[in-house]
Amino acid sequence: MSETSAMPSSPGAATPRTPRSSADGEKRGSALQKRFAAALMPNYGVPPVAIARGQGSRVWDLDGKEYLDLIAGIAVSALGHAHPALVSAVSAQVAKVAHTSNLFLHEPEVALAEKLLSLLGEDGRVFFSNSGTEANEAAIKLVLRKQAAATSGRNVIVAADHSFHGRSLGSLAITGKESIRAPFAPFGLTVRWVPYGDADALAAAVTPDVAGVFLEPTLGESGVIPAPAGYLRAARDAATAAGAALVLDEIQSGIGRTGAWFACQAEGIVPDVITLAKGLGGGLPIGACIGIGEYGTGFAAGDHGSTFGGNPVSCAAALAVIDTIVAEGILGNVIKVGAQLIDGIAAIDHPLLAGVRGSGLWLAAVLSGDHSAPVAVAARERGFLVNPVQPDAIRIAPPLILSAAEAEEFLTAFPAILDAARGA
Ligand SMILES: Cc1ncc(COP(=O)(O)O)c(C=O)c1O
Repeated sequence: MSETSAMPSSPGAATPRTPRSSADGEKRGSALQKRFAAALMPNYGVPPVAIARGQGSRVWDLDGKEYLDLIAGIAVSALGHAHPALVSAVSAQVAKVAHTSNLFLHEPEVALAEKLLSLLGEDGRVFFSNSGTEANEAAIKLVLRKQAAATSGRNVIVAADHSFHGRSLGSLAITGKESIRAPFAPFGLTVRWVPYGDADALAAAVTPDVAGVFLEPTLGESGVIPAPAGYLRAARDAATAAGAALVLDEIQSGIGRTGAWFACQAEGIVPDVITLAKGLGGGLPIGACIGIGEYGTGFAAGDHGSTFGGNPVSCAAALAVIDTIVAEGILGNVIKVGAQLIDGIAAIDHPLLAGVRGSGLWLAAVLSGDHSAPVAVAARERGFLVNPVQPDAIRIAPPLILSAAEAEEFLTAFPAILDAARGA
């Protein structure tokens, strides 16, 4: 999982309770890791790098080491770090009003909803959340509510093996990763599992008792595994035939990551519900659940809500992200630099490397065995942040502004990184 980090925590170790200076020669990053281990819950382990600041596609750690950021906070920092458009939009909004709650409305949330609908090119309505998980929670409730109102009784959710939709009890219930779901079962949802990518199995599973079919266009957390050609079309057809909602989780794929605003647009598919988060806020927390057509009005007043959802600062950030993607032609950059990375990785002949998959700036370097941990360490030592998303896959999901020269920097270094990992 993306949350897994290389260094295990050591809750039993003697750790200082108060901040410690680096006057004794200890690196500032190591000192902070000890405080982290003593003060934060052990669910993430202790992350290996303490990031102090960023600029463009680069970050610096607390001890001043520079890295090319090829993971962007798990496919989040779309404009890179400290982009002037994001800084000024967020600063200006926080100076005006930082929070209103949903007892009151404000311009940025309305403008952002309108903008998302126009990018999608469909009639619909938007619900804003604070995260991807919450966007999916909203989607689950939306399809159950809508279907209950329409047919009184459809309650099955179809979801895919190896999918990832979040960690709350609703989104975890439809997450097809047994290892993270099983410890918290049972859940209050009826879920029918299908093997991801098998159109016939999907068609057989989507029967008239199904309220919604939840799919990622590409399995992100399972290693950037794209759906086979035609799969999303088959899902659309199966859902339509059964009268069920097709919900596309574009939390990782949306807002330009694949070179299209939404991955479903490249496939010519219109879902009933689409969920977004990650890149939308460029680093500020925001998620969105977009109901298309009749799903836009599936909630009645009082059905759902969030104190912080649609927060003015996060909405201002998202507007800046979208406007900057347009102004700077960033979708074209994603396609161009993504192709450069795919071609460059495919051209490397190395015993540890088995291939490359994905699209746009959302790729996995596929390894010949379970080498991703040493590869990520070797990359880090050479100043590149990548993500060992699976034991045999390295995820590359950099800022969408990654330049051709920065991509080349990584491609030039990658063979030596693989050599180092082989010797590790
Ligand atoms: C496809 C997908 N859905 C949902 C989520 C959960 O989003 P969040 O971590 O913002 O709650 C993720 C996070 O990795 C994701 O990749």
